[in-house]
Amino acid sequence: MLVTGGAGFLGSSLCERLVNDGHRVVSLDDLSRGKEANLAGLDGHERFRSLVADACDPAAYERVEAALGGVDVVFHLAAVNGTKWFHERARHVIHVNVNATLAALEAAEGWGARFVLASSPEAMGESSDWPLMDTHASVFPPASSHQRFAYGASKYLDEIALHHAVSRGLDGRIVRPFNGYGPRLIGEADGQVVAMLFSAVMDSRVMAVHGDGQQTRCFTAVDDLVDGFVRAGLQEASVATGEPLTGMAFNLSSHQEVSILELATAINDVVGSQAVDLVLGGGYPGDASRRVGDITNAEEHLGWRPTTSLEEGLQSMWASLSGVP
Ligand SMILES: NC(=O)c1ccc[n+]([C@@H]2O[C@H](COP(=O)([O-])OP(=O)(O)OC[C@H]3O[C@@H](n4cnc5c(N)ncnc54)[C@H](O)[C@@H]3O)[C@@H](O)[C@H]2O)c1
Repeated sequence: MLVTGGAGFLGSSLCERLVNDGHRVVSLDDLSRGKEANLAGLDGHERFRSLVADACDPAAYERVEAALGGVDVVFHLAAVNGTKWFHERARHVIHVNVNATLAALEAAEGWGARFVLASSPEAMGESSDWPLMDTHASVFPPASSHQRFAYGASKYLDEIALHHAVSRGLDGRIVRPFNGYGPRLIGEADGQVVAMLFSAVMDSRVMAVHGDGQQTRCFTAVDDLVDGFVRAGLQEASVATGEPLTGMAFNLSSHQEVSILELATAINDVVGSQAVDLVLGGGYPGDASRRVGDITNAEEHLGWRPTTSLEEGLQSMWASLSGVP
């Protein structure tokens, strides 16, 4: 198995799960956002190898092949994530997210490997049809208004590239994680909201809640997401109908839709006496007011459903961050 972006938040947990399940795994990551420490638990493992290389570079895949001999499944997660970068480094986001996907697809086609693309609900742009279904159109604002969709539009192009490869025989599948969270989530200014709010607690700072805090998301625990990736990559066919999974897209989303204000309050409840004040305001242009996924495909064809409640997930994230079990 190849996991691109294997040193990142989701990729490192996916590598651990695959190795623990008995697979031989290579992580390919340039460590631009991922950390070697995320893979410390696999250090020296006989079935695991970490390659530091650029996933846009076709030569990187020759190194993967040399390390594994052959590749059965490519889990393609390498991408530039983090809202701050969508605005500040739009061209870099487009370059990496599109070119890494094209290079990984080409390698998978050469190997005859199955391919799982980590896409995003942002591939639908600012669609106002919720819950998100595959039949909905992607809707993007004028490019001159802001550059946020450097990310979402790159994921849209990634999905098109995957479908093109599928039409030429690739066994490609798409997963769209909805706001993953867990212990290794990046919490700095270029990170994601759950970790940023926990960072404020750790530093005894006020929590900055963007806008009016009424925007909603479905936060999905990392173990649930990893389980969805594994099912999408390793299942031969639909558990319900037996039909091939090739070309299907799976939204991986929790059932609990909460506002960011409710999330911040829930985090304060979890940290108890270390609770901090909240301040409203700021944020980025183009932030979606709602993001909810229809998970019928994942439930029906993968047999996947989220199992971790937000309260349980936040408790376990706090236990890991604070070192208190
Ligand atoms: N976390 C979520 O909630 C979420 C939601 C939707 C989609 N996704 C997608 O899932 C994937 C993993 O996300 P994540 O949250 O783990 O992000 P992450 O930033 O932690 O992981 C991405 C990894 O890709 C690596 N990377 C970046 N550019 C690279 C390059 N040129 N070559 C090699 N490696 C490179 C980074 O170093 C990082 O380790 C991404 O494709 C992301 O867009 C994540």
